Amino acid sequence: MRLSTAAVDPSSLRSASSFSAATYLLRLPSRNLPAVKCGGKSLTLASASPCAAASPNYLFGRRALMYMATASFLLTSPSFAAATDEMSLLQEEIRKVLSKGKAAGLLRLVFHDAGTFDKGDRTGGMNGSIVYELDRPENMGLKKSVKILEKAKVQVDAIRPVSWADFIAVAGAEAVLVCGGPKIPVQLGRVDAKVPDPEGKLPEESLNATAMKQCFKKKGFTAQELVALSGAHTLGSKGFGNPTVFDNSYFKILLEKPWSSSGGMSSMIGLPSDRALVEDDECIRWISKYADDQNLFFEDFKNVYIKLVNTGAEWTRSV
Ligand code: HEM
Repeated sequence: MRLSTAAVDPSSLRSASSFSAATYLLRLPSRNLPAVKCGGKSLTLASASPCAAASPNYLFGRRALMYMATASFLLTSPSFAAATDEMSLLQEEIRKVLSKGKAAGLLRLVFHDAGTFDKGDRTGGMNGSIVYELDRPENMGLKKSVKILEKAKVQVDAIRPVSWADFIAVAGAEAVLVCGGPKIPVQLGRVDAKVPDPEGKLPEESLNATAMKQCFKKKGFTAQELVALSGAHTLGSKGFGNPTVFDNSYFKILLEKPWSSSGGMSSMIGLPSDRALVEDDECIRWISKYADDQNLFFEDFKNVYIKLVNTGAEWTRSV
């Protein structure tokens, strides 16, 4: 028996106003329970187990009371409410400037901020330094993504200042979601760097699979994580798949090697770094798994995205 995540996941709550008015489902061991008032909020109690419903005393036992006390604490705790408000504010402003056509650029921005991390000297990572690095050749085209976000960030900053690192991390998650990808919960509290990261830390597109795996290993990522992250190239004009739909087409198309065909798909050549992945035994095993199972890809992408946006980050509060 556990509290449903919907009861405690701040990202599942749309806005501060809808939060106070909403009725939330809590999974408790009894059926057809009445709505109860809890910290000024109306909570509907629902059953998690049919056999538990046979025992009316169960509801009023100590465990049920503990559930109610925990739920009441979580829903009324100031830090929970603050995190919920802050996330809702960010999502609301980002959604105003985000469209499917802009999603690819925003997701790429996440990698170009976080992907500079180096485990060896502990430099780089998700620290907002990308805003100082936009003139670097590898960041070509990202100025317009920062500009799009700037409009939304100004609105948020006027109410409650937010770091670039947090803002980009949430924007990338929203970009994935708007294109049909998984919902990714992002923790807030990253601190921005005051100087640019060292240069030359992002992988070049000409790397072969061995060099790519080595490069990602230095950032703390496995071959499986490299493959899952590369699935981001399902978005955008240079990847494989519909440029505005986040799904597992990237892996399916990669397996077909359209660049080597003389047929109608040969215009889809992708990036050299993507093409290199299918030449590696370890990578191709994951490419095949993700091509077969979109749910697995979504789950693994969600997890590695969270790892990416926490990579090398400094926090104002504990994660
Ligand atoms: C594995 C190493 C990677 C390399 C070598 C690489 C390189 C590139 C290159 C050269 C482009 C084309 C940019 C252009 O339009 O001129 C691109 C696009 C893109 N990359 Fe990556 N990338 C890598 C990993 C990632 C990761 C980990 C993510 C995100 C999690 C990502 C997200 C994107 C997206 C969304 C685009 C499309 C951008 C658009 O069309 O506006 N990339 N990448």
